[in-house]
Amino acid sequence: MATAETENLGSESGQAGKAAGACVMVLFGAAGDLTKRKLIPALFNLVKANLLPRDFAVLGVSVDDLTLEQFRTRVTGFLPAEDRGTEAWEWFTQRLYYQRGEFADPNTYSTLASRLSALDGERQTAGNYMFYLATSPKFFGNIVQHLGTAGLSRQQNGHWRRVVIEKPFGHDLESAKALNREIKSVLGENQIYRIDHYLGKETVQNIMVFRFDNAIFEPIWNRRYIDHVQITNAETVGVEQRGGYFDTAGTLRDMVPNHLMQLLSLTAMESPASFQADAVRNEQAKVLHAIQPLDSDDVLHLSVRGQYGEGLMGDEKVAGYRAEPGVSPDSRTETYVAMKLMVDNWRWAGVPFYLRTAKRMAKRHTEITIQFKRTPFELFGNSAFRKLHTNTLVMQIQPVEGISLSFGAKIPGAVLQVGSVDMSFEYAKYFGADAHTGYEVLLYDCMIGDATLFQRADMVEAGWSVVDPILDVWTALPPRKFPNYAAGTWGPKDADELLERDERQWRKIEP
Ligand SMILES: NC(=O)c1ccc[n+]([C@@H]2O[C@H](COP(=O)([O-])OP(=O)(O)OC[C@H]3O[C@@H](n4cnc5c(N)ncnc54)[C@H](OP(=O)(O)O)[C@@H]3O)[C@@H](O)[C@H]2O)c1
Repeated sequence: MATAETENLGSESGQAGKAAGACVMVLFGAAGDLTKRKLIPALFNLVKANLLPRDFAVLGVSVDDLTLEQFRTRVTGFLPAEDRGTEAWEWFTQRLYYQRGEFADPNTYSTLASRLSALDGERQTAGNYMFYLATSPKFFGNIVQHLGTAGLSRQQNGHWRRVVIEKPFGHDLESAKALNREIKSVLGENQIYRIDHYLGKETVQNIMVFRFDNAIFEPIWNRRYIDHVQITNAETVGVEQRGGYFDTAGTLRDMVPNHLMQLLSLTAMESPASFQADAVRNEQAKVLHAIQPLDSDDVLHLSVRGQYGEGLMGDEKVAGYRAEPGVSPDSRTETYVAMKLMVDNWRWAGVPFYLRTAKRMAKRHTEITIQFKRTPFELFGNSAFRKLHTNTLVMQIQPVEGISLSFGAKIPGAVLQVGSVDMSFEYAKYFGADAHTGYEVLLYDCMIGDATLFQRADMVEAGWSVVDPILDVWTALPPRKFPNYAAGTWGPKDADELLERDERQWRKIEP
């Protein structure tokens, strides 16, 4: 139904759009939640799109005592029931294998090595292995060390070995550096795929296409024309079943060094010289390094934290954070974060980037807003509307994926009045709705060796460098007023004041 002229962007290996080459995906944590909700459905979508290799297998590894049949039954339970019995279903099911194994036990890896070698014979998978660590972060370093000791990370005789590492990557700068050191003692950087599932979203990838494949926006994408940038990630959910984990992490760690820094760097980066992984990631890293470090005083003035109390989500009364399962009743963990950051380079000097991310907001909504400056001369200055209006470009990331641009237009009638109108584009309306989890492109890219959408060590560390000073001050000065916003609202008053002090306001997200 798309009427667009399409063009393949190509990839490092020149393979985009074709089925990936022969390989085995080894899935550590094969009975876990991520596997169930995202990875298996994403793999199955790749089967249906003919993007998985013909010579392919999934080998699940987990502590659970499951027979092959039980594993296959369990995994197919994660697939859409309407696909049962189809050719794709049969094809996929036949390529699922299971190994019971404890991650910390060296025997797991010697058994794994023999299983993989047998699979290479059975499925012609050519010794190419993608190890996906869908496990608790406490196992990341350990599993990689074991893979090294068992000789499973060694690339030789033309085969590849890649390791996908889930988030969170560290819990502060020091631990992220330590984890990088540990995994890099076994793997080369080009074997490490640090995943940030935000980068699997169409709109996030489209930021680059929008900026660098259209001649009209880039000339105004700078301090001369842009007043400020807002990045909003609002969730309506609370902590669900993850209270125990979340209470030790908080929203700052969970969202900012990874997802929000990715959005910021894609919005603010210079044009890369090519669409090769390192060309793109070099530019992203430069922006992250250009973010003005916050000192303790800045943290107090330029960052805001919040925690939700009980409130109404629509008509439903919901509990406050401290009453959630797994959360301490006097928890000081933040569920809301807002901050103002400056990017110290020629393009962005003086342009604030306001970031906010939170749970239990009034609406689920993620977007990047580019707020342009006012016209230099107010020709229609007598209109009350003038005072409010500036051009706004909004890149919507979820749940609706699209882009809209607002501008002033004359309201029909005898009296000259100016109103704001929108030009908007929605992915689903233009290209048709596509059932995807966001992991498809990332799994496929890893199989074809394209790391563009994965985080490099320096990017992860740069993200933590932004967050670390805030963590230090917040830990030293516990919050006094938690909870400070009601569930179902737009967060604490302090966050509004952060912008009001600059005579600005958060863009209103329509209900
Ligand atoms: N779930 C999500 O939506 C999501 C989203 C983004 C990122 N992530 C990240 O993805 C990773 C996995 O998350 P998850 O929610 O899938 O975790 P999970 O549900 O706890 O899954 C982990 C799996 O590993 C198994 N396991 C635990 N300890 C083991 C051991 N010592 N040896 C062998 N197997 C062991 C678990 O078995 P038992 O169940 O029997 O203990 C379980 O099957 C985490 O790093 C998380 O931060 C998850």
